[in-house]
Amino acid sequence: MNVLLTGGAGFIGTHTAVRLLAAGHDVVVLDSLVNGSAEAVRRVERISGRPVPFYCGDSADAILVDKVIADHGVDAVVHCAGLKAVGESTGQPLRYYRNNLDALLTLCEVMEARGVRRLVYSSSATVYGDPAQVPITEDMALSCTNPYGATKLFGERILGDLAAAAPEWHIIALRYFNPVGAHSSGLIGEDPQGVPNNLFPYITQVAAGRRDRLRVYGDDYATPDGTGVRDYLHVDDLARGHVAAIEHLGAAPGYRAYNLGSGHGVSVLEAVRAFERASGAEVPFEVVERRPGDIAACYADPSAARRDLGWTAVKTIDDACADSWRWQTANPVGYGD
Ligand code: WQD
Repeated sequence: MNVLLTGGAGFIGTHTAVRLLAAGHDVVVLDSLVNGSAEAVRRVERISGRPVPFYCGDSADAILVDKVIADHGVDAVVHCAGLKAVGESTGQPLRYYRNNLDALLTLCEVMEARGVRRLVYSSSATVYGDPAQVPITEDMALSCTNPYGATKLFGERILGDLAAAAPEWHIIALRYFNPVGAHSSGLIGEDPQGVPNNLFPYITQVAAGRRDRLRVYGDDYATPDGTGVRDYLHVDDLARGHVAAIEHLGAAPGYRAYNLGSGHGVSVLEAVRAFERASGAEVPFEVVERRPGDIAACYADPSAARRDLGWTAVKTIDDACADSWRWQTANPVGYGD
């Protein structure tokens, strides 16, 4: 298929592009570079040995999106573009609602006008809020605890209503748990701007000596070692999930949402120890107060994706640590652009 990949210059997008190309699809990338890198797209070409046309722009730009779809004969879209920092969204709600919802609505309108109605949408486990139980299945209650999560929840609602009104749409929402790791080549990986919000890039930078120590946000949760438990999914497994979804779309009219997670819960301290094993570096830490809005435990029941999409995670937390370390040591300052 000819796939338009929005956000294709970002962490998830670049790894998804590599897997789409490896599966024989053609990929054209649209990315505003607000949280992505043009160099990363060039490295995707280097890894895949295939050209990747790249447009620097906003997915809310209807004229640009229409031109890309028309010029490249796009027949399916993977929509990864979006602002995704929970804490930032709390301080900038209007920016998050405008950016994330405007882009999705514009994209769907332009796709409809062009008769392109196959869409894979980047959603998030954050739509489960503070789950009543774990592991989490897709039929569990949805809620939002921050503006970022609300944009994901509203996005799913928009797409569900669209597919209900127009059954010729084939839409899959992928609820990412916690993407971590990097491509095994060390050429692409996670390159957060400024101080990382998320655990894995922060641990990586502490191990590399870019940060003095990790602050563990609380060790008094109702978890085995008291620290937060999450479902850390290798980004390459996540990328394969997008390929499985887009290749399943033809047989799947309407709207469906799937969890993409490993199905295993890992605590902060377990992640630290795994990273120390993989890197041979020390990760000094201190336990501090809980981070507002954090929940104790969140991990997936990924059986629906296995049943319907034939997808399951195959890489481990140790693989993710080793790949993150290789990326960090080969790119001490990320992509540098
Ligand atoms: C993981 C664990 C922290 C940093 C967020 C978004 C979610 C998704 C993934 C977009 C928690 C602890 C973290 C640190 C720490 N993003 N931690 N010290 O919060 O589970 O999910 O990112 O879709 O929507 O909510 O990920 O990596 O921030 O935190 O102790 O410096 O690590 O308390 O237990 P989170 P995270």
